[in-house]
Order: sequence, then structure tokens, then C-alpha cells
Amino acid sequence: MRDFTRKDVEFILNCAEKMLPYATSGTSVLQSKILALLFFEPSTRTQLSFDSSMKRLGGSTLSLSSAGSSILKGETLTDTIKVVEGYTDAIVLRHPREGAARMASEISSVPVINAGDGAGHHPTQTLLDLYTIRKESHLNNLDIALLGDLKYGRTAHSLTYALNMFKANITLVAPDGLQMPKHIISTLDSVTVTDKLDDVIRDVDVLYVTRIQKERFPDPNEYLRVAKSYKISLPILQGVRDNLIIMHPLPRLDEIATEVDQTKHAKYFQQAFYGIPVRMGLLTIVMGGAL
Ligand code: CP
Repeated sequence: MRDFTRKDVEFILNCAEKMLPYATSGTSVLQSKILALLFFEPSTRTQLSFDSSMKRLGGSTLSLSSAGSSILKGETLTDTIKVVEGYTDAIVLRHPREGAARMASEISSVPVINAGDGAGHHPTQTLLDLYTIRKESHLNNLDIALLGDLKYGRTAHSLTYALNMFKANITLVAPDGLQMPKHIISTLDSVTVTDKLDDVIRDVDVLYVTRIQKERFPDPNEYLRVAKSYKISLPILQGVRDNLIIMHPLPRLDEIATEVDQTKHAKYFQQAFYGIPVRMGLLTIVMGGAL
């Protein structure tokens, strides 16, 4: 997110708004363009929504995962990028190593979009998160709490930087040992750090829930210590602001009870859908299509 200014972000969100009518009907602004989807970690939403967005724009996609590629024979990421750049107009990369997308962008002759780099960042998730907040709540004078695994959660890292651009009042709620890295907290203008959700849940417009990132824990016992340490259920929502929205980048495990899905506060499936207009807007900008 630090590659963007607030003005850049607003431009992308406005492009997403223009794309919204085409997110279900389609258009042909990227006809004959090809997008490579390189996903070396599991994904449902990011991979499928980039794929769907490119096809809704009239373009096509090539997909590669670790299991089906020559990475299994020992080919490096550098060589993979140098080959794939010749086949496509842009590359979307998800990789377990922090900084992988930045490295790829420095050697690639076509644009590279970070679709998640280990426990680092997930900027396109943040763009759709901001779009959701703007559509379903408001971005001015926003009171927001981020809950969960803020240490390893890359969506929370990217979103926190972006919320600071919009001067949000940010509360970081995490179990002991999973709080946001200090180097990110130190960049924030209005921040409260706590491990007690009950102290803050009635004072926010947005509750952004995240999953504990089991796959990032070096020690399984450490994961077991914090697993199931928070869960959003109907009793917890008593007394919250009428306009509270609950977001989650998904996948969820059991940190939000399914009974919450039926409430007016639940916006996480709508949030996942907004990945389409946002990624359509971003791909159009990146590949030079007419907006
Ligand atoms: N939100 C998100 O990144 O989901 P996936 O891991 O399924 O892509």
C-alpha cells in the first residue's frame, strides 16, 4: 500500500465504481489481453476473482500453481517470471515468501500485482476492503477495530497502512503475542492497542475480523495457545452501533458464528463480491484499457 498515495487509492476506488455495472454483465475493454495467475499458496477468492475479473473485461488468463509447474523441478521464481512475462500482459503473484512480488516486479517487463506475499501484504484485498467500507459505511472519521491475528495477517497489515491515509481512528485488538508489528504501529496517527474486544466493540463503525494464520506459526503449540481465543456471536453484538458493519477477508474458521451471517451487520460475502469491480478497475488501469 505504501506504493500508493491517498489520491491513487481514491482514483482506483472511483474506477471500481465505474466497473460495478459490468461486474455481472461484462465488457470488452481488455479484449486480446492476457493475465497470468501465479498462485504458489492456496487461494479461493483472490485467484477466482482475478480470473473472473479478467474474463469480465473480455481478456483471458493463464494459471500456474506449485503443483503443476516446473517449480517442482527446481526452477527459480526469477526464471519463472522471466519466462511468463513473455506470455502475458500482466502477472498476479501469490507467494509464501515476504517481498516475492516486489522482487518479481523489479525483474519483470510487465506489471506485477501482489496477491499476497507470505505474512507480508495483500494490497488488492485492501483496495476491496476500502471499497466495501466506502459503499457500506463511510471513510470519513471512521472508527474501526481490527481483530485477530494482526501479527501474521497480511490483510490487516496492508489495511492498516491504508486506513491511516484516510485518518481513521484505528483500534488493534489481538490476543497476547499476535498484536500488529511495532514497525507498523509506529507509523499510525490515531491508534489504540488492546486485547479486550468488549471495551471497544460498541464504539466502532467497522469490525474487521481476521483468522488466526495457523500456517504461519513456527511452533504448533503456540498456535494451540491462541486458537479459539475470540469469536463473534450474537450476544457479543448487543449494544453495538446500529450501523456497525462486520467484515472479514475470509476464509473464516470459527471466529464468526454462522448465526451472525443473518444480521444486518454481516458484510463479508458482499465484501468478497466487491473484489470483482475493484480488480476489474485495477486491471484496466494496469493494462491501459479505456475506462
Ligand atoms: N481473502 C483472501 O485472500 O482469500 P483467499 O486466500 O481465498 O484468496
